[in-house]
Amino acid sequence: MDKMNTTSFPKNFLWGAGASAFQAEGAYNEDGKGLTSADLHSFLKSDIQADTKIAVDFYHKYEEDIRLMKELGLNSFRFSISWARIFPNGNDSNANELGVAFYDKVIDLLVKYNIEPIVTLYHFDIPQNLVEVYNGWASRKCIDDYERYVHYCFKRYGDRVKYWITVNEQRVIAESKSLVGFKEKEGCSWEAIRHQMNHHLYLANARAIKLCHKILPDVKIGTAVSYLTTYPATSKPEDVFAAKELEDIWSFATMDVYYYGDYPDYYKAYMKEQEISIQIEESDYETLRNAKPDFIGVNWYQTATIEYNKFRVKEEKKDQIEPTTMGLGGRVKIVKNPNLTYTKWGWPIDPKGFRLALRKVYERYHLPIIVTENGLGAADSLTKDNKIHDEYRIDFLKHHLLSIKKAIEDGVVVIAYSYWSFIDILSSSNGMNKRYGFVYVDRDEFNIKDLKRIKKDSYYCYQNIIKDNGSNL
Ligand code: BG6
Repeated sequence: MDKMNTTSFPKNFLWGAGASAFQAEGAYNEDGKGLTSADLHSFLKSDIQADTKIAVDFYHKYEEDIRLMKELGLNSFRFSISWARIFPNGNDSNANELGVAFYDKVIDLLVKYNIEPIVTLYHFDIPQNLVEVYNGWASRKCIDDYERYVHYCFKRYGDRVKYWITVNEQRVIAESKSLVGFKEKEGCSWEAIRHQMNHHLYLANARAIKLCHKILPDVKIGTAVSYLTTYPATSKPEDVFAAKELEDIWSFATMDVYYYGDYPDYYKAYMKEQEISIQIEESDYETLRNAKPDFIGVNWYQTATIEYNKFRVKEEKKDQIEPTTMGLGGRVKIVKNPNLTYTKWGWPIDPKGFRLALRKVYERYHLPIIVTENGLGAADSLTKDNKIHDEYRIDFLKHHLLSIKKAIEDGVVVIAYSYWSFIDILSSSNGMNKRYGFVYVDRDEFNIKDLKRIKKDSYYCYQNIIKDNGSNL
């Protein structure tokens, strides 16, 4: 791409939106699908009634939903394959043909409508059987089973799928015990094992990338990283450093390992300080170094404003740690940013921070960026005449797209934007109370109703933006 001439969205920009299997499909035990950790996680959540059993029924309504994508004008759709639809136990000798056929149908329809499928291979939903037999990602065996599964997907769908994402939000996975279904056992505590799991996920990612490049040399593959961009709360040097430290440990460390194939020095120092030990085999470094992603997938929602916290866990002042304290031995905490507005769920809205985020990622890796997630969760309400006037989402969308446009003008290579989510889905933390989509689904937490699809005002707004390739933003 000739950057000197780039003043706006490139002609072939991928305008998209996304969803994941457990949040959209439903049909949790249909056509041979096995249970996943995400199913159990959703059944157990006491504050959420809506679960993965029906979700928004994409499994049965995919044709209608993909037609709505076409009508909106999307030219890409990011979705995930549920590992347990393909291999119900995660490691079966034969694939489950009915599950395989479902994704064939989805992909074929997308391709028919010229909508590029962007496929995530693992989005929070490990087959539960693998948790039962070897505690999932805690075991190295999981890497082999994952590789077998992705190999199958590459072979089966690789003729039609040109963009692949190995893992969604590895750091979030390695921090959520219930999401991975981890079972505490004697001599195997969560705190001790989660860093080992994280290491196994790095290896799984690397093996998938290497395999994909070998058997599908013309396609692009990368990962989707949760990137929390940080600001220091004040210009006090300790706040500035705390903000950098959190951003590095939480976000850049993951991207650095993907990109450089080794743990960065600051992360090694952090592990030493926190007494984190990981079993690394000699050949692991080679595995990590031999896999280079073709793009960086960035899931971006918000910035966090950081203050240095003088109380530290290590100083045996555990009782003084404030509730907002997080990570890094308790020495950083997130504080409210008075310059930003917040959603009902306390997520700051900060489009200017998005431009900064894109600049930082591109300047560090110089890899094309796919914005794999960015969106606004809100409690939309249906008017009496069946409309959703979500002007807040329109505002969010326009300002975040404007930030991408500016980042492109700054020289950042952004090749795709996948708004989260195309249709209302089960929010992973707030069920159906928190809606993200351009298309409303008529169900709520307690009542399945008729699951009718209704276009929100933001649907038409995105349609107009895409029509002009973003030139009128
Ligand atoms: C991302 C996940 O972390 O955040 C999505 O990849 C999720 O699956 C999104 O839906 C928003 O979070 P939540 O908890 O509001 O659904």
